[in-house]
Amino acid sequence: MPRDDFHKNAFDEGTVLKLDILSKYLEEWLPVFMQGRYANRINIFDFQCGPGRDVKKVEGSPLRIVRAIARAKPSTEGRVVPVDVYFNDADKQKIGLLQGELDSFELNAKCNYHFSALNFEDCFAEVLPHMQQQGAANFLFIDPTGLVRIAWMIDQLSMLSYTDFIMFVPSANLYRFNKVEEFQKYFPGLTFTGTLIDASRDICTYIQSKLHEAKQEYYLAQFAIKKERTTNVNSLIFGSRSLFGLNKFLSVAWGTSPNGEANFDLCGDVLCAKQYALPFLDKIPRKVESFHETVREMILAKRLQTNHDVVVFALVNGFLPAQARAALKSMKEAGQLQRVPPMSYGSVIKNKKVEILS
Ligand SMILES: C[S@@+](CC[C@H](N)C(=O)[O-])C[C@H]1O[C@@H](n2cnc3c(N)ncnc32)[C@H](O)[C@@H]1O
Repeated sequence: MPRDDFHKNAFDEGTVLKLDILSKYLEEWLPVFMQGRYANRINIFDFQCGPGRDVKKVEGSPLRIVRAIARAKPSTEGRVVPVDVYFNDADKQKIGLLQGELDSFELNAKCNYHFSALNFEDCFAEVLPHMQQQGAANFLFIDPTGLVRIAWMIDQLSMLSYTDFIMFVPSANLYRFNKVEEFQKYFPGLTFTGTLIDASRDICTYIQSKLHEAKQEYYLAQFAIKKERTTNVNSLIFGSRSLFGLNKFLSVAWGTSPNGEANFDLCGDVLCAKQYALPFLDKIPRKVESFHETVREMILAKRLQTNHDVVVFALVNGFLPAQARAALKSMKEAGQLQRVPPMSYGSVIKNKKVEILS
């Protein structure tokens, strides 16, 4: 599909799911930052924003961002932390349409809009000084039709401090064409370990390794989205400088799907090709059971010694603190643990109620 055709068609279910995840994440993330305890300004960047709606008038990322801001505002108090939203699309006409949409949008989200019609990389260079402002919390939505050059992306992320991002990766194309020389400039050296349905995890692991090589601490997670009635699976890659962001994204992911990482079924802890047509056959994915077992073994081997160790271990492996708590609870029932300590993100990470497991 040529780039500009995207908005000439109705959004498919996969696109709507991607946008729902964006909305839900912002609804979790924004209220905390708007209270002003962690940041003195909020910047949201929608780098490939489109005109605001598809042909059937379904709202795209810009209108969803504005809705999330309007919902997050304290209703009576004035503006607490200024919010700036940067909308960009290489297609000038789409930016014009979006401006019209926002002018007539019924919501009164108190934020400053900025518009540009630049190529993504040029836009990034242009807004970089805003992202680097002291005390800024940045959220980046990167939703290209094609691929981004990942080495360049890592360089940009390396220059930023308090930053979260959601990036769409058309992993079906990447999986098919990655060995073609022309594609190698996007994700050089990426190898896939399994079938297309494992590709999202492979891409996430690859990006994490590139960030480690660049000595950049970002916590990553992924969500695989299968297009309805096709075998195409694409990816959302989430990244955050903070465990707080990761915890929020994982809450959204587990709230969206019973396996927390895909809109299709899993067989245990592997994505299961043969169950393509049977969404969520496996209502209680065995991956959670196997995670419980790993936590139990690691505690017994003293490789996880505190509740803090367990919460961090859960999050970086794509699980929620509550899921880790369930493992501790069954250890207590089995007489392997005397007490289940506080295990929520708030108690352990935010309020530092750290206890040695005994
Ligand atoms: C997948 S769509 C984004 C959809 C949008 N997030 C929404 O919800 O409607 C990709 C957009 O990227 C724009 N685009 C294509 N190449 C671009 C580039 N190099 N830089 C910035 N935008 C680009 C297209 O015009 C298109 O609107």
